[in-house]
Amino acid sequence: VSLKPYNTFGIHANARYWAEIQDPADFQTLLHLNEYVAVPKLILGGGSNLLLTGDFEGMVIRMNIQGIELVRQDERHYWVKAGAGVNWHEFVMYCVKRGYAGLENLSLIPGTVGAAPMQNIGAYGVEIEQVFESLEALNRQTGEIRTFTHAECQFGYRESVFKHDLKDQYIITSVTFQLDKTPTFHTSYGAIAETLAEMGVTDETLSIKAVSDAVIRIRRSKLPDPAEIGNAGSFFKNPEIPKEQFEALRVEWPDMPGYPLADTNRVKVPAGWLIERCGWKGHRTGDAGVHARQALVLVNYGKATGHEILALAHEVQRSVGEKFGITINPEVNLV
Ligand code: EPU
Repeated sequence: VSLKPYNTFGIHANARYWAEIQDPADFQTLLHLNEYVAVPKLILGGGSNLLLTGDFEGMVIRMNIQGIELVRQDERHYWVKAGAGVNWHEFVMYCVKRGYAGLENLSLIPGTVGAAPMQNIGAYGVEIEQVFESLEALNRQTGEIRTFTHAECQFGYRESVFKHDLKDQYIITSVTFQLDKTPTFHTSYGAIAETLAEMGVTDETLSIKAVSDAVIRIRRSKLPDPAEIGNAGSFFKNPEIPKEQFEALRVEWPDMPGYPLADTNRVKVPAGWLIERCGWKGHRTGDAGVHARQALVLVNYGKATGHEILALAHEVQRSVGEKFGITINPEVNLV
């Protein structure tokens, strides 16, 4: 099976076996197949945070459980449950339309609901953990369904327990969000306030729809649309470095941006800035490139292989390491 339509980087690669799950019960059938037991497995959502570096000699399992349900509400909150296969942006739009507040800053992120908690997706000052209530997941060995609370997910910056202690052990089937009836607007990040002003939105007309529209505008202006140019969003995580190191670097690079992290002695530095300063922005080798408007995004102009993208990523990493003494690590999953 060709995986090209199933990864937003648009990489050509084949999978030996292919399965699609539309209902948790499908998994119980799959679990007993010899092919399932014998080979490595790759769980696929929207394929938007993935770099395939070669053929996959195992079984790709595409999560396609649909459905959105308002499970309960009180005076202040709505609890909304969505299937793992629901497209993330469509889910955000569903909530914005009904006035369920909390997801608007996360508009237009590629991928699926089920993949979102894996790496605690975040954008424009909001991370999914701020609206997360619980999730359900299948045990990959036994097929049992387990509910995970917020604490059990061990969320961090682009991190969760599913990337660490429980890596490759569970398949997320649904996620329940706790959303607000009265919105709290997060408009201080980056260009949101400015964009709202450009759109003619005032304090009186501010709404979750307006914030969502502003985020969509900003993302469209900076980030390549995977339908046009293959990419997986930010390729690297923003590094967190000790405050002393940051201050020392600032002597040489006075305009280096940095965001002090609460409760630690560390500063988060935008990797996009570091990469741009190394001269990579807009760079292209064959069909592998560094996006011209956001240096943190690596792109496939058409026929790049996973190896070529990875080779470019290594060069970028090496030059950032040499120039600034900072290690940047991939945010995408390498398969
Ligand atoms: N910058 C540059 N040059 C660039 C890109 C960025 O100098 O080419 C500097 C600028 O100083 C800018 C700062 O970096 O002010 C931050 O840039 P931006 O707001 O675009 O955000 P980011 O830190 O590069 C993160 C997330 C994105 C998310 C945006 C907005 C990570 C790894 N990435 O990027 O998430 O959309 O913030 O909140 O944390 C993703 O994870 O795939 C993703 C796209």
